[in-house]
Amino acid sequence: METTFVMIKPDGVQRNLIAPILDRFLAKGFTLRGLKFMNVSKQLAETHYADLSSKPFFGGLVEYICSGPVVAIALEGKDVVAQARKIIGATNPLASDPGTIRGAYAIDIGRNVIHGSDSVENGQKELALWFSEGLVDNTPVLRGQIYE
Ligand code: TYD
Repeated sequence: METTFVMIKPDGVQRNLIAPILDRFLAKGFTLRGLKFMNVSKQLAETHYADLSSKPFFGGLVEYICSGPVVAIALEGKDVVAQARKIIGATNPLASDPGTIRGAYAIDIGRNVIHGSDSVENGQKELALWFSEGLVDNTPVLRGQIYE
């Protein structure tokens, strides 16, 4: 079963959006395998966004991610990487469908509330980085109501 990494960024936490954001993924039927309320070190933020280190916005992005606590989330389910990206919406809120998290809650690309892994491979890498202690065993009793 596929797993992905999602993070509610500091603006999402400060704006009290933890519950409505979590609800979108859990009500959809995905399974929680990890959930941490945590501060992010500069080193973790830089490693997480290493692919963007040459971009002009990199310094500001790292500062933003370290500016307050985040919620790190591991989700499991069928096609969860692509599904979570759909639920999250386009990077720039101007392009995000209003039905998505970013479309509903964000205005600025630099304060876009949430992160989600963009591929299965990156999901594995990010989960290893953020949940090095491993994921929580959580086989839902109701799985038969979600999958055929
Ligand atoms: P990226 O990985 O391209 O987008 P996504 O988060 O949708 O996978 O970029 C990572 C984050 O960097 C993005 O969520 C917001 C920030 N960012 C900017 O601040 N300015 C920009 O021009 C871009 C492309 C991204």
